[in-house]
Amino acid sequence: MLKVRDLTKRFGGLVAVNGASLDVAEGEIVSLIGPNGAGKTTLFELVSGFQRPDAGRIEFQGRSVLGRRPHQLAQIGLVRTFQIVRPFANLTVRDNIAAAAHTRLAARSAALAKAEEVAAALGMSGLLDQLAGALPIAGRKRLEIARAVATDPVLLLLDEVMAGLNPAEITELAPMIRRVRDRGTTILMIEHVMQAVMDLSDRAIVLNNGAIIASGTPGEIVENPAVIEAYLGAGMARRLAGTETGAGHA
Ligand SMILES: Nc1ncnc2c1ncn2[C@@H]1O[C@H](COP(=O)(O)OP(=O)(O)OP(=O)(O)O)[C@@H](O)[C@H]1O
Ligand SMILES: [Mg+2]
Repeated sequence: MLKVRDLTKRFGGLVAVNGASLDVAEGEIVSLIGPNGAGKTTLFELVSGFQRPDAGRIEFQGRSVLGRRPHQLAQIGLVRTFQIVRPFANLTVRDNIAAAAHTRLAARSAALAKAEEVAAALGMSGLLDQLAGALPIAGRKRLEIARAVATDPVLLLLDEVMAGLNPAEITELAPMIRRVRDRGTTILMIEHVMQAVMDLSDRAIVLNNGAIIASGTPGEIVENPAVIEAYLGAGMARRLAGTETGAGHA
């Protein structure tokens, strides 16, 4: 579905993404993890057409999409969310989702129907008439996902949708992401909340200093010495390995 090869992006002297290659297969949930400043969001910007790479290839569904603009990519189903969510605060949830649905649907009635359908599928029907600006952070995160889903994405890039949520809200949001996948959308997500990474991901890819240092199942990743060194730390790795296997560790 997504094939990235030798992708590089420089900002002046800084190499934000440094020869990164990765694949995402249809139907997967893949997490992209790594320390602050590793280049995760920049990689999303490149894949979604918000920035141009200095080198490398990006293929989506077997075709090169290098140089395409974000709205062109959205029309073929490659869509991202933003780390900082920004709905139209003075519009209702319904109108926010409908505005996103207009990416693919010209008719107002079709976009409004899409908003109803997506909200129902994601358990948000009760929020449709609320002003987006009045939503708490968890609601804004859900709205951001709903807006993306309303464009019928083939591949959805989620940038830290769990950030700023408390543990109960994280537990609530995780099934929503799984539901999006089960509706037929492949997911590549940047996430720092490791419990969500462990629970949701089929695979995880680790970025450090712009380069991919590991990829594998969540269970493999938390036992990878390079990942523990660069990102997780020994204590966190032990706790996560313990959760996954149910086994105690010394
Ligand atoms: N538009 C830009 N201009 C200059 N430098 C940038 C730009 N965007 C990102 N950077 C730099 O590139 C590096 C990678 O940033 P990026 O936002 O991709 O990291 P990240 O992995 O998403 O981090 P975080 O987990 O904190 O969100 C950082 O050093 C950042 O300061
Ligand atoms: Mg980021």
